[in-house]
Amino acid sequence: MTQPAFADPAGTWNRRFAEDGFVFGTQPNAWLREHAGVWQPGQRVLCVADGEGRNSVWLARQGLVVDAFDIAEIGVAKARRLAQEQGVGVNYTVSDCDAFAWPEAAYDGVAAIFVQFADPALRERLFGHIRRCLKPGGTLVLQGYTPRQLEYRTGGPPFESHLYTEALLREAFADLECIELREYEAELAEGSGHCGRSALIGLVARHRLT
Ligand SMILES: C[S@@+](CC[C@H](N)C(=O)[O-])C[C@H]1O[C@@H](n2cnc3c(N)ncnc32)[C@H](O)[C@@H]1O
Repeated sequence: MTQPAFADPAGTWNRRFAEDGFVFGTQPNAWLREHAGVWQPGQRVLCVADGEGRNSVWLARQGLVVDAFDIAEIGVAKARRLAQEQGVGVNYTVSDCDAFAWPEAAYDGVAAIFVQFADPALRERLFGHIRRCLKPGGTLVLQGYTPRQLEYRTGGPPFESHLYTEALLREAFADLECIELREYEAELAEGSGHCGRSALIGLVARHRLT
């Protein structure tokens, strides 16, 4: 059964991010780190729902020009401090993904790491924005959980309708060229938020040049 979108996402996430420390740690997500070589220094990347900034700051440290947004202003404030501490600039915005001013064909890359707050209707709008904001040749790097994660309960939403299968991602990004799409299991140690055996899925897909 389809579950509704989360109520009060800004309040919920602000409360989580108000705790000391970083809920998902300060190191980048491993799938992102392993695939960020698809982008060259100086290229422009958008981090979607970037939370406390672990991914945006690391990408900026690789020489990328990074925009990032998140609905939770406490998360974005922590991300700004992390960027300052690490001596990099990131263009942060506090925004709901529906309200974000998505530019058309503007980014060489999009990082969408654990954005499974989205129910199917919101996900369709979000994925549409992601596809359209990529330049021709631009590349999406996405990480999420599969439905098997409901057995592990080591992170992610407890709603099957928010989780991804290979078929779902293949169909959602059918107009992109699939570079890699993989379901796998791994031990995550991303702060207290994603911790333990996890059922994961990773996608790397490129906007076609035509
Ligand atoms: C699981 S966390 C992942 C954060 C980050 N991508 C990372 O990997 O560390 C999900 C993030 O989505 C954000 N979020 C939830 N609903 C949102 C919405 N409607 N629009 C934008 N961001 C949202 C939350 O504030 C939170 O930072």
